[in-house]
Amino acid sequence: MKTKIIHAPDLAKARNRTKEETIFLSSSSKHFEEMKKLATGKKYFIHTYGCQANIRDEETMRGVLESLGYERSFVPSESDVIILNTCAVRENAEDKVYGEIGNLKKLRKQNKSITFAICGCVVEQPEILDLLMTKFPEINLFFGTHEIHLLVDLLYQAKTEDVRLVCVESKKGEVVEGLPTSRNNSYKAFVNIIYGCDKFCTYCIVPYTRGKERSRKFSDIMEEVRELKKANYQEITFLGQNVNAYGKDLDEGHDFADVLEEAAKMGIPRIRFTTSHPWDFSSKMIDVIAKYDNIMKCIHLPVQSGSSEVLRLMGRRYSREDYLRLVKEMRDKIPGLSLSTDIIVGFPNETEEQFDETLTLVDEVKYESAFTFIYSPRKGTPAAKLVDNITYETKSRRFKELVKHLEVHIEKDAAKYIGNTYKVLVDGVSKTDSNMLSGYTESNKLVHFKGDESLVGKIVDVKITESHTYSLIGELVNG
Ligand code: 5AD
Ligand code: SF4
Repeated sequence: MKTKIIHAPDLAKARNRTKEETIFLSSSSKHFEEMKKLATGKKYFIHTYGCQANIRDEETMRGVLESLGYERSFVPSESDVIILNTCAVRENAEDKVYGEIGNLKKLRKQNKSITFAICGCVVEQPEILDLLMTKFPEINLFFGTHEIHLLVDLLYQAKTEDVRLVCVESKKGEVVEGLPTSRNNSYKAFVNIIYGCDKFCTYCIVPYTRGKERSRKFSDIMEEVRELKKANYQEITFLGQNVNAYGKDLDEGHDFADVLEEAAKMGIPRIRFTTSHPWDFSSKMIDVIAKYDNIMKCIHLPVQSGSSEVLRLMGRRYSREDYLRLVKEMRDKIPGLSLSTDIIVGFPNETEEQFDETLTLVDEVKYESAFTFIYSPRKGTPAAKLVDNITYETKSRRFKELVKHLEVHIEKDAAKYIGNTYKVLVDGVSKTDSNMLSGYTESNKLVHFKGDESLVGKIVDVKITESHTYSLIGELVNG
């Protein structure tokens, strides 16, 4: 089969950040009606890896596929379209994708009418795309994070032309409005407010794969929030690689604090947001979070390292002292604040002293939860060029030590819930015990309790009876 390359990725282009206005597009497709005929009575399978941005992209792709008449399936072998929506942030995320391709490729071998597509951040990396193309001739459609709005036409070409299609354009990206969405959940929703990232932390591939920071118009965001409120959604989470940067690329005069405040006034019961870079977290944002009861007092504030020197090498734009000052302002102004973070251990040549600074920072901040990672070199990023003298064994040991330090406080924090009653948004039957329901407190603690499935999607009162490091056990109050 011939390969048709519409666009191929290029990291030099992906790095380009000349100041240009954000481009807004509304969705359209040339082959919608023809593709609808091809989709009738057929099913699709999609598997998403990685962050909330990818999960939200999946919802858009599902919306597009379902608008064509495709029905969702969780069984790849009965599906006419198979999509793996990939994550490139660390090597282990990529490895999982290779494993799954290995399992699925035989389906396409047996049935050439299947469209086997790989999209998301992995294909945005030129060398990885080349490798996938060589190693897996069964994949017949590759598209990137900037091409989701072209999905109908790409599918149509893949189905009607006898070619393998590659459409991965490295560019700053646009804001596309008006695409259909099939949400994963009827009471909790993600709302994109800004795409891309301009921070270029030296270890991170995301600014290359997701393009420049570009904000949605304030009115489009508020329209989406209004719709969600009308549909009785109980929780929304504003999404962006760095939500704090909202509005900086637009001339609308609105910043992220305005987004939070306007949404809070609309009365959605729970408002969350992720992720915030410590560098541009404004006092105005802190004040708005403190002011409104329906803005959850949870801030995800990735620190990455407790050493100012490592932070400098990571290109994080703040020192340990800056970070701790910000945490103090947050804790002073927001009673009951729950702080979570991301930490990378084993950045190239991280010394034992520098690692100890991460431990002392963790002990000082007392996070309520944390995501911890061992540094993973990403080809094309500045950090990947550094010669690294630290062995993997050392990194693993540090990782375990860090988790132990984090858990001391997480456990202590969990214990203070015992005996008190909290509002819990019920998510469904517990994954660990089918006799229990599970849900999250306002502070984002996972709670398991006995209750009827009719409570799913509702906010209920639960009295906590038992605490574990990563979850709580409770009893429904009045129920
Ligand atoms: N190696 C390890 N962790 C990484 N992250 C991003 N890039 C890398 C990398 N190359 C982590 C950071 C970020 C989170 C989403 O993933 O901690 O905040
Ligand atoms: Fe990556 Fe840094 Fe941007 Fe986060 S802020 S997506 S870590 S470059």
